[in-house]
Amino acid sequence: MDIFRRIGSQFRKPSGTLGTIVSDLMILGNRSAYKTLIKELTLDPNDKILEIGYGPGIGIGLISKRFQNCEIYGIDFSELMFRRATKRNSQLIKNNKVHLFLGDFIETEINTINFSVIYCINVIYFWDDLQKPFEKVRSLLRDDGIFCFYMARNEDLTKVRFARNDIFNKYSIEQITDALKSAGFSEADYNYKHGYFIKAKK
Ligand SMILES: C[S@@+](CC[C@H](N)C(=O)[O-])C[C@H]1O[C@@H](n2cnc3c(N)ncnc32)[C@H](O)[C@@H]1O
Repeated sequence: MDIFRRIGSQFRKPSGTLGTIVSDLMILGNRSAYKTLIKELTLDPNDKILEIGYGPGIGIGLISKRFQNCEIYGIDFSELMFRRATKRNSQLIKNNKVHLFLGDFIETEINTINFSVIYCINVIYFWDDLQKPFEKVRSLLRDDGIFCFYMARNEDLTKVRFARNDIFNKYSIEQITDALKSAGFSEADYNYKHGYFIKAKK
């Protein structure tokens, strides 16, 4: 496998030494996306939130700090990320503020429902089909719930060597809004800041 493809596959599911290096890059690169996401969110005390693909767990910590009265759930299918995120957020987990799970969001049965917000940063490229995951997100949201996510622009992704392969689905914003509509979301807005922040209402 060529080196750029190997790096790209580590962004999809980090493992081993290369996965550790790539997850350090995520910490450096994605903090600002989480900060922008936090500005977009309005939450009430006791709300439940779910992050899909929490990676090294930096967003879990930032969001928990900002919304201290909420409970944060997370699911990621990389064992390495599960270990790193668990270590990083150990105190919050002990205090029952954060609940982290290891598993594939698409395949894992999730018993907690009625999330007020489900969010993900840099994850949807790895979903070859958007219908099933979007429908699943919608089914886990409460009636006034919001799905909020960040993705890079497809034109920008094609400029990145490690993303120039079929590991990364390069969705256009039109494909995303159409997929949200066909999954049953009632409304989808987006704004652009280095990438797209998309907000969809159940
Ligand atoms: C590019 S990383 C982004 C990590 C983190 N959100 C960030 O921005 O720093 C993608 C993450 O999503 C996880 N992931 C990808 N597809 C997933 C799926 N179907 N179910 C659960 N986790 C998934 C990967 O293991 C990885 O940790």
